[in-house]
Amino acid sequence: MCGIIGAVALRNITKILIEGLRRLEYRGYDSAGLSVVDNKGQINSLRRVGKVQVLSDADMIQKLDGSTGIAHTRWATHGEPSEANTHPHVSQHIYVVHNGIIENHESLRELLIDRGYHFTSETDTEVIAHLVNWQQQQGGSLLKVVKTAITQLRGSYSIVIMDIQDPSHLVAARSGSPLIIGCGEGENFVASDQLALLSIVHRFICLEEGDLAEIYANNLSIFDKHNNIVKRPVVELQTKYDTSSKGTYRHYMEKEIYEQPIAIKNTLEGRLNRGKINLSELTEKQELLSVVQHIQIVACGTSYNSGMVARYWFESLAGIACDVEIASEFRYRKSCVRKNSLLIALSQSGETADTLAALRLSKELGYLSSLVISNVLVSSLVRESNMVLLTKAGTEIGVASTKAFTSQLTLLLMLVAYIGRLQGQVISKEYDIAQALQKLPARIEQILTLDKTIETLAKNFVDKKHALFLGRGDQYPIAMEGALKLKEISYIHAEAFAAGDLKHGPLALVDNEMPVIVNAPNNKLLKKLKSNIEEVRARGGWLYIFADKNIYFSNNTKMKIIPLPYVEEIIAPIFYTIPLQLLAYYVALIKGTDIDQPRNLAKSVTVE
Ligand code: AGP
Ligand code: GLU
Repeated sequence: MCGIIGAVALRNITKILIEGLRRLEYRGYDSAGLSVVDNKGQINSLRRVGKVQVLSDADMIQKLDGSTGIAHTRWATHGEPSEANTHPHVSQHIYVVHNGIIENHESLRELLIDRGYHFTSETDTEVIAHLVNWQQQQGGSLLKVVKTAITQLRGSYSIVIMDIQDPSHLVAARSGSPLIIGCGEGENFVASDQLALLSIVHRFICLEEGDLAEIYANNLSIFDKHNNIVKRPVVELQTKYDTSSKGTYRHYMEKEIYEQPIAIKNTLEGRLNRGKINLSELTEKQELLSVVQHIQIVACGTSYNSGMVARYWFESLAGIACDVEIASEFRYRKSCVRKNSLLIALSQSGETADTLAALRLSKELGYLSSLVISNVLVSSLVRESNMVLLTKAGTEIGVASTKAFTSQLTLLLMLVAYIGRLQGQVISKEYDIAQALQKLPARIEQILTLDKTIETLAKNFVDKKHALFLGRGDQYPIAMEGALKLKEISYIHAEAFAAGDLKHGPLALVDNEMPVIVNAPNNKLLKKLKSNIEEVRARGGWLYIFADKNIYFSNNTKMKIIPLPYVEEIIAPIFYTIPLQLLAYYVALIKGTDIDQPRNLAKSVTVE
């Protein structure tokens, strides 16, 4: 949530800040603001409710001139999306932008009011500005003052502080939310994510937990949580990122749905070799992986759904017990660690606060080791895990995850086969999996040709208030993913059920208004699934069945069969995801919702 960017340069950085906010908008888009100091020491600020475009369209933006500045695009946690609550927040000459939650903001607010400060916003963030201001009155450099002030903060924060009385530098600090420094020539930048800076710098420093940075145009110093000056590694990133990269697509989500064949090809590249799966990143860990007796997956949202599919694979294909838990539940309950248990964290962004906290907790609980599957190399989860596997889906901008999900499943299936082989599973299984994965991109290309059929189908859902998704076996988590996609971008309430559980209560929801979407691949559960379909039919539900084209269903006016091409059973969960993504997309398109930036959501949830 929320995106931060700051700059100390010699040139006018207003446009750089605005463009950076545009690239960070996927992290939050309730409101946006910036403050820049020009070379006469004049402060120029602008804040607007709404998306970055609103700020960028403001007449004044053209006149804003400054070589040092900070900017913020907000996802509100404390205080409604209003201009008064928009960052930067100010206390006399101290300006601050913040990503995170200050959990003790109320007590700090009272303390600061007692000290004579007047609050102009409802946010938790404003306490930081006044705290730094007050500390500064006790004397010391901005760095020293910030160091002292943050010791009073509880909760999570990445912050950038500017003192307009001395705009030669910025001070940044991170605890719980990501912060990256971009190193330029005669100018330095700081941002929530390297995406904001990729078009201006290629050298990045990832601040670590508890780090503090003093950032000048020509140099910077980093201090760790023990106040030692440290040298953090500089990462060179050459990846290009072009904001106008929607190309001919109407939305990033649409583009990313159609990018899935190439995203999966890139994720497979170098890892399939004549029927064998080669995860070279894990070569040194083979001995450890060969003794794993249990796998605990932690993740959130769509990543949780991919973990739920992997559980079927780990148990049925690798013979390893596997549990999957929502990270925000895992991290707050007293859990028991199984013997030789491997913790696997799944996260597209690599920055999800609950998943990161779950990983950190696992290190205190005695897990054998940890492994992360992420789509972002420069991310906290990648940095803090013992083992890393990267999906190669490319930057995913749409808040609703699509190509990252199917790339995660692709990599998880390879990991299952890889560990299975290390643990003595029959090699033929690995060969079959490798063969099926080799065909997956082409299979997805095939199913994407059904987009017009699904666009027509979508019309049946536009006026619906509810929808049910059913699946059995490894299609049940795919039903969960289909429900999540529909609700998060079309705002239609959607729920997924294990088809066999319908009669234990949810069937009461079925009436002649209720649309019920079912994935029906040709597998050993089909007969049982057909009975569940009959249960729905008998109660007048509207059935939409994505089925293998060779399956016969008796004709019925309230049953729409969408025949799908053949797919190898092992990759069916990945394959059957695509029509559900397309369905959600087209329903939202007809409804006119904000597909890439749905209300109330953000792409990377870096707050709890
Ligand atoms: C996906 O469509 C959602 N936007 C959301 O559930 C997302 O999957 C979740 O926030 C986890 O994100 P991560 O994979 O980056 O950790
Ligand atoms: N808590 C701050 C606010 O509500 C920052 C929110 C965020 O990081 O998204 O303004």
